[in-house]
Amino acid sequence: MSNHSSASVKRITTHTLQEMKQRGEKISMLTAYDYSMAKIVDAAGMDIILVGDSASNVMAGHETTLPITLDQMIYHASAVVRAVKRSFVVVDIPFGNYQGNSSEALRSAIRIMKESGAHAVKVEGGAEIKESVARILSAGVPVMGHLGLTPQSIYKFGTYAVRAKEEAEAEKLVEDAKLLEACGCFALVLEKIPAALAKRVADALSIPVIGIGAGGDVDGQVLVMHDMLGITQEFRPRFLRAYADLNQIMTQAFQQYISDVKSKDFPNSSESY
Ligand code: KIV
Repeated sequence: MSNHSSASVKRITTHTLQEMKQRGEKISMLTAYDYSMAKIVDAAGMDIILVGDSASNVMAGHETTLPITLDQMIYHASAVVRAVKRSFVVVDIPFGNYQGNSSEALRSAIRIMKESGAHAVKVEGGAEIKESVARILSAGVPVMGHLGLTPQSIYKFGTYAVRAKEEAEAEKLVEDAKLLEACGCFALVLEKIPAALAKRVADALSIPVIGIGAGGDVDGQVLVMHDMLGITQEFRPRFLRAYADLNQIMTQAFQQYISDVKSKDFPNSSESY
């Protein structure tokens, strides 16, 4: 894979993503929350970096995405943006900062764009947040939607099981997806829904549909970095492919370091001044 770190790199934009859908090129998307990791992800050639509110889980150790604040999201997003030369950076607006009213949604989106330098925001939900989506879009901020298993609503769902298996929920999801496209969203994430339903949505929409646990017949895939690198041990849903076992590699490195310090092997003379 080519390295995209040179100064002449062409940035990914909403337009690029739209063209990728049109020519059937799958879109790669991964979360990142800090400068060092984002630099690697960007240089590897990822199309979209999502500064997800999953930072609440994997960075801060919370059980859900609900506790993370707007200030904390801006902190993570700023670090990611400083690292990125090519990827399109999308930032989750956290729980409680857009659902209440559209003015607050706009204020939150503007703070994210102004203070972090990100390229777009993501929000969870359909018809119930359409005023917020429209208001953010009216200020020229690109919005990515998110339907299906929306983690900010976990206490309403009561479970992380697959969503929209029943017809009524599936029909609402399709209607919400069409509504988000009609509002002007540039892309949509579908999380943990039946593959056939995700395909139906991707076929019906002209904007890119990115799946996580939504099968292969969508326009791209997103995963949480710590899950796909095998850093997270306790989270192994069926849709997750682990591309590395960094937990094991890191544990070995830490244990070797501890052992070298204890045995006085580290530092040796060539590692000293
Ligand atoms: O916060 C996040 O990481 C997300 C992805 C799971 C899509 O929203």
